[in-house]
Amino acid sequence: MTTAVRSTAGERQKALVEGEFLFTNDDFLSIARMLYDDAGIALSESKASLVYSRLAKRLRALGLESFRDYCQFVGGSQGVSERQNMLAALTTNVTRYFREPHHFEHLKTRVLPELAARAKARGRVRIWSAGCSTGQEPYSIALTMLEVLPDAAQYDVRILATDIDPNVVATGRAGVYSNEAVQPVPAALRDRWMVRVKDGARDAWGTGEEMRRLVSFRELNLMGNWPMKGRFDAIFCRNVVIYFDEPTQARIWSRFAPLLTPGGRLYVGHSERVTDMAKFETDGLTTYRLKDGTS
Ligand SMILES: C[S@@+](CC[C@H](N)C(=O)[O-])C[C@H]1O[C@@H](n2cnc3c(N)ncnc32)[C@H](O)[C@@H]1O
Repeated sequence: MTTAVRSTAGERQKALVEGEFLFTNDDFLSIARMLYDDAGIALSESKASLVYSRLAKRLRALGLESFRDYCQFVGGSQGVSERQNMLAALTTNVTRYFREPHHFEHLKTRVLPELAARAKARGRVRIWSAGCSTGQEPYSIALTMLEVLPDAAQYDVRILATDIDPNVVATGRAGVYSNEAVQPVPAALRDRWMVRVKDGARDAWGTGEEMRRLVSFRELNLMGNWPMKGRFDAIFCRNVVIYFDEPTQARIWSRFAPLLTPGGRLYVGHSERVTDMAKFETDGLTTYRLKDGTS
């Protein structure tokens, strides 16, 4: 962790962010430490205002008067479920359908034709969306798959979608998206594979039967154990490790390698880079291929 440590006790007790609740540097360091320990996310002090505004709601909901009380509560045995709320409040879940569209073009033209042929020959095809947020990424993979192989759901083809945050996993599993969220989905794919639903009083789009059958959602912390047994033909881990420090990022890349099939692809976010070039080679913009002979 690279968070600056203030020197004097007086300075550490001063308000770091002015507002309704006292929020000191010690409180910030304590929250940053918990987030790093739980999720691998490294918070720099420049995020202090963001932490304050996201957690002030939690303090209000719990009727607490200061961040010191909050830190004591989430750090203690009574605060286990609130620690999960804290994590959910502090993770960034921004996502959208067909984000970084070049990855889906690459998947469609360079990867899926071979995988579709394998599926039709009764082979196994697996893709992992690691850090899937509210589901737009795995469903974009599913739509790309259905474009290439319309009866994909009949074969042994599965997309695993995982995230540390149970709220986003539940949203993904529900598979209901606003008209605005579905805007980036090409109309032909939307009309064929998605269905009109109501979200309360609003018209929305729901994922169709085939999309649902292809994608399975699970809660999974990338810092913990990965229970998956089989290998993946492609892993999407995009805009997730950007919040981790470099050693943690490097550890994630090296854990992905043995989980990929020979020549398997790894797609990362626009500002992320895979550093383990002993195992991976570049195969396009922020796209990597497991090197031959690597396992
Ligand atoms: C910015 S979103 C990216 C979503 C999607 N991959 C995309 O590119 O649109 C980052 C996601 O990573 C998840 N995340 C953060 N730390 C994680 C961890 N340690 N294990 C699993 N998921 C994590 C967050 O909950 C969040 O949903």
